[in-house]
Amino acid sequence: MKKAFNYISLYLFNAFFCKIPINFIRMFFMRLYMKIGKGSFVSCNVKILNLEDPKNNITIGDNCFINPECLLDGRKGKIIIKDNVDIARGTWIYTLEHDPHDDYHATRQGDVIIEDYVWIASRAMILPGVTLGKGCVIASGAVVTKDVPAMSIAGGVPAKVIGTRRSALKYTIDFTPYLYI
Ligand SMILES: CC(C)(COP(=O)(O)OP(=O)(O)OC[C@H]1O[C@@H](n2cnc3c(N)ncnc32)[C@H](O)[C@@H]1OP(=O)(O)O)[C@@H](O)C(=O)NCCC(=O)NCCS
Repeated sequence: MKKAFNYISLYLFNAFFCKIPINFIRMFFMRLYMKIGKGSFVSCNVKILNLEDPKNNITIGDNCFINPECLLDGRKGKIIIKDNVDIARGTWIYTLEHDPHDDYHATRQGDVIIEDYVWIASRAMILPGVTLGKGCVIASGAVVTKDVPAMSIAGGVPAKVIGTRRSALKYTIDFTPYLYI
């Protein structure tokens, strides 16, 4: 019974609530499904997979900005997004996968932890069990399979360190547009 309720609830989120264009109404529903800190903004069309423990599996800190078309998979592992994190359009973050070597197609899981001031550029993919260190940058199109050190810039498939970020990280993300698509 609880499982059926969770499926329906998740369907309603991804089919309707996440598409509400008026931000304060959409954010009201988003906060029913995820923990979201103050000053953070989750855009339209951010989808979630989050059946078992919805409110605890995806947490977003303060002053984060998550752009449209992102996917946050909190099915088994947790996605922990800390403060001042900027996630660009079309990023997919997974906490669950199949073990390709298992005879029965078993699943395996891992938390994804995104430390303060991380910038994930567009269309990156973050795989289960990865930690993105404070202030690192994930270049667009990267597939991140391993932890990324703080203040590094990682890109490519699979992602490797391609540079070092020189920013002193003096900013606070404070962008809450009325209409944003
Ligand atoms: C991270 C990013 C800003 C580049 O950072 P940078 O420090 O300026 O990197 P550079 O351009 O100096 O490139 C450094 C090296 O990484 C390579 N590189 C740059 N971007 C790359 C990418 N997305 N994937 C793989 N390699 C990349 C460059 O070719 C260069 O390699 P080389 O040293 O062999 O010539 C850029 O890759 C990026 O992702 N931009 C985001 C675009 C975007 O998503 N915009 C919307 C959100 S605001």
